[in-house]
Amino acid sequence: VTNAPVTDDMLSAAAVRDPYAYFGRLRETAPVHFNERYRMWLLTRYADVEAAFRDPRFSSDRITPFIEQRLSDQPETGLARTFNILADWLVFKDPPDHGRLRKLVSRAFTPRAVEQMQERIELIASQLLDALPTDGTVDLIRGFAYPLPAIVIAEMLGVPPSDRDLFKGWSDDISALVFGGLDEVGRHDRAAVGMLELASYLTELIDHYETEPADNLISALVRAEGEGDKLSRDEVVATCTLLLFGGHETTTNLIGNGLLALLQHPDQLDHLRVEPQDFRPAVEEFLRFDGPAKAVARVMAEDVVIGEQHLRRGDRVYLVPAAANRDPRVYDDPDVFDIRREGPQHLGFAFGPHYCLGAPLARMEGTVAIRAVLDRFDGLELATDELSWHPVMLNRGLMELPVALRRREGTL
Ligand code: HEM
Repeated sequence: VTNAPVTDDMLSAAAVRDPYAYFGRLRETAPVHFNERYRMWLLTRYADVEAAFRDPRFSSDRITPFIEQRLSDQPETGLARTFNILADWLVFKDPPDHGRLRKLVSRAFTPRAVEQMQERIELIASQLLDALPTDGTVDLIRGFAYPLPAIVIAEMLGVPPSDRDLFKGWSDDISALVFGGLDEVGRHDRAAVGMLELASYLTELIDHYETEPADNLISALVRAEGEGDKLSRDEVVATCTLLLFGGHETTTNLIGNGLLALLQHPDQLDHLRVEPQDFRPAVEEFLRFDGPAKAVARVMAEDVVIGEQHLRRGDRVYLVPAAANRDPRVYDDPDVFDIRREGPQHLGFAFGPHYCLGAPLARMEGTVAIRAVLDRFDGLELATDELSWHPVMLNRGLMELPVALRRREGTL
């Protein structure tokens, strides 16, 4: 980390390629920084990010202000209807609604439901790897890390396999909106079309499982009850879109970024082949070292002073796990990738009340997927010197991961 001045362009080629240098410099020189270009605060130290995740004055509701400021005069447009669905996502809720929704959704999306998926995920991973070319260079994002989580969450929800591709396309449309990219106008329109088609598709599926319940998440969400309370129909639809979406690109990026870290540290890759029990700490290190959640957004519900900086009500804030997870005040040699590292919990799944509800599924999927690749191929080499990363604010993910593969003797 140098003391060179930091530009305000968080999406410059250099900042997208190496957010750790970009945000790391801020963490060391201006840990509570106002970015003039995007008009938002950036919090980069571990202690500040962790405290903000727990502090209700940092509101999660960044949707209602948008609806009030930008959409109140056009309530019937596709975009307004899309934002009304997003407003029902529990990730965007504050107390008391957040607690109520989270409790109900947790009743459906249980660790047991996740455990039951392990064998299926192993099989799906294996089928995807079967379909890759036998030898040569393949893009492990397109052929593997990208389709796997989509198939898994679609299957958990109860989407018939024949509809999977539809489902995936809609999720990509919504992703363009939620993760923030360059082309604001186009992405809003695309997201609105995707979200409304998805919502209407899900409504039919929910009707179906209401009359004929099955062993899947939609049926469990329809059934979920607590203290005389149930999810409304709109909330079930919104929660399905959230789970579909939350379970998707983030997990692709855990698999992609984790594989990349191992390819760049072949000694640790070899270690995991012989000591697969070390996947448990290794997954945490994938999430700390190069996790999918680069930043997480909040809006100030009240004025707050941190150090000499005065954050005012209504100000937008990014909490930046990509910087906090490499804070030298918390981790020794933070820029070193070490799958046997011990230390405080990383902030890659957030912290506190909004801690990722899908964390058990993500950890399991990441482990199963990366393990399947290591088991299947004994020669694995990164086949490019130039990595390309998605130019988005909140998420950290590869556009492609070209790898030269050599199949292990005796495997198909
Ligand atoms: C490696 C993969 C994943 C990462 C890095 C990740 C990261 C996160 C983060 C940072 C948050 C907090 C957002 C905030 O506070 O504004 C979150 C919340 C959430 N995640 Fe994940 N996630 C992953 C996978 C999943 C999966 C697989 C699912 C479900 C299928 C999921 C469902 C959720 C839900 C429902 C919430 C909202 C929780 C709440 O607001 O109380 N996530 N995730």
